[in-house]
Amino acid sequence: AAAMSVAATATLAESHSAAGCDDGETVVKFSHVTNTDKHPKGIAAQLLMERVNAEMDGTMCMEVFPNSTLYTDEQVIEALLRGDVQLAAPSLSLFESITKAYRLFDLPFMFKNIDAVDAFQASETGKGMLDMMQRRGLQGLGYWHNGMKQISANKPLLEPSDANGLKFRVQPSDVLVAQMNALGASPQPMAFSEVYGALQTGVVDGQENTWSNIYGQKFFEVQDGVTETNHGVLDYMVVTSMDFLDALDPAVRDQFLTIMNEVTTERNAAVGEVDLEARQAILDAGGKIVELTPEQRADWVAVMKPVWEEFAEEVGQDNIDAAQAIND
Ligand code: LMR
Repeated sequence: AAAMSVAATATLAESHSAAGCDDGETVVKFSHVTNTDKHPKGIAAQLLMERVNAEMDGTMCMEVFPNSTLYTDEQVIEALLRGDVQLAAPSLSLFESITKAYRLFDLPFMFKNIDAVDAFQASETGKGMLDMMQRRGLQGLGYWHNGMKQISANKPLLEPSDANGLKFRVQPSDVLVAQMNALGASPQPMAFSEVYGALQTGVVDGQENTWSNIYGQKFFEVQDGVTETNHGVLDYMVVTSMDFLDALDPAVRDQFLTIMNEVTTERNAAVGEVDLEARQAILDAGGKIVELTPEQRADWVAVMKPVWEEFAEEVGQDNIDAAQAIND
């Protein structure tokens, strides 16, 4: 399915809207926002594309558009529903306008590490969350891990009070807004692709993200250190439209979903390695990482964790309890 001549592309582009796909193949455009190197999502998307194009040649043809080249994740759900793309993997924080259930994942210090996140997602409750957007025409196909979030600013952050009065970029999530307010900081929701520029020009002072995103977007270059708080999780849901899935021939759908599940399992198992590699790459590139003492970290917990109270009812105390039981 891969690579066709440029001349042939021009006319087929009208009907297939994807370069490099053969006539008769179902085109799957996958739009995402991160880089591809030393990045859990970038690597997983690439592997998925390679496997689909090798094993489903003649039937299905996948094209990946990374780095927000096609859509931001704020736009991509609508694009999925319009059929402009067939696959996306936004952070769980990006689904807020569709369901509030995923807010559980944004609550600070809810999960002690990515293994706890994995175990929760594999539970009946976690698996059930993949089906929660069906009434809006969307189907979750699996969770892809990124990792735990760290916090950075244009000054060193050791105590939560150091964040006081600073402006922080957050993903568009009320929980993350509340979390920054709890720090006495000013939260600024903003698309991922705009963050580097906003940090560089001082539109915001800081941000929170995972090692791979801080490395991939070079945030560390325009920040005075990254504080290793591991205060929250950033994970993805791979999502497609139900219209797209329903229109597939059952055998094709099965093969596609089998490849998806295998790639998900394989890459999620390797996420710790990619995470550490990105952390190390920040150090190698001259970035500064601030490690907290247990006492300092406890202070961040004390300031941020009360945010749970505001959201406990809509997230469900039973879900919070289930997540906490996994931590123990
Ligand atoms: C962000 O906006 O910071 C993340 O959702 C980006 C991503 O996809 O990891």
